[in-house]
Amino acid sequence: MKKLAAGNWKMNGTAAALDEVRALIAAHPAPGCEMLLCPPATLVARMAEAAHGSALLVGGQDCHPKASGAHTGDISADMLKDAGASHVIVGHSERRADHGETDALVRAKAEAAIAAGLVAVVCIGETEAERDAGQTLAVIGGQLDGSLPAGANARTLVVAYEPVWAIGTGRTPTLAEIAEVHAFLRDRLRGRIGAEADGVRLLYGGSVKPSNAAEIFAVPHVDGALVGGASLKAADFGAIVAAL
Ligand code: G3H
Repeated sequence: MKKLAAGNWKMNGTAAALDEVRALIAAHPAPGCEMLLCPPATLVARMAEAAHGSALLVGGQDCHPKASGAHTGDISADMLKDAGASHVIVGHSERRADHGETDALVRAKAEAAIAAGLVAVVCIGETEAERDAGQTLAVIGGQLDGSLPAGANARTLVVAYEPVWAIGTGRTPTLAEIAEVHAFLRDRLRGRIGAEADGVRLLYGGSVKPSNAAEIFAVPHVDGALVGGASLKAADFGAIVAAL
């Protein structure tokens, strides 16, 4: 399976930031992994235009579970697809925390994404309190079960494990802790979708940067990364792409 380097720009970036995208594309015309950037919704179409004909894939950061309707401020998976997206992140911990998103809603969003022809990047991860209480596997196992869309297979689903306490903090789990979680997730997915699970990319996310990417990518069942802060600069994200 080809690994995946995915960048999540979160609520960062205006048109001027597309210069970083052009620099990334120029520096990595034929990366050894899939390369994906998920900018804010306002930039999806323009980034997709800039990426046209290149190896860079473009994704959204969220979508509504419905295809259209009276939902002011929301965007649908079909709209993202129309704007040039191939993927959409759903269930990021910031949306779960800021917008009270539940596993059931995340699952509905992932199913809408798949129905629109997008790859759903489903995020799960424990809080620091849950890890300290020894609940990590129970929490992420429950999130995976509750958020897993119908129709999940190696082409429609990516799972991103992001410990909430590692996001934007500079702290990461030990390599052994990442290995434990990723092996657990592979096994849990096999229980749900059988052998297809072996082709589903399992990303690690949380303070991935050029200096720690290679050692994290060497961990078994780590099939790439979901990168936040370090995806904003072409040089940093490019170094992570090169490490895969
Ligand atoms: O979606 C990306 C993650 O939340 C990781 O963010 O790399 O800034 O820690 P970070």
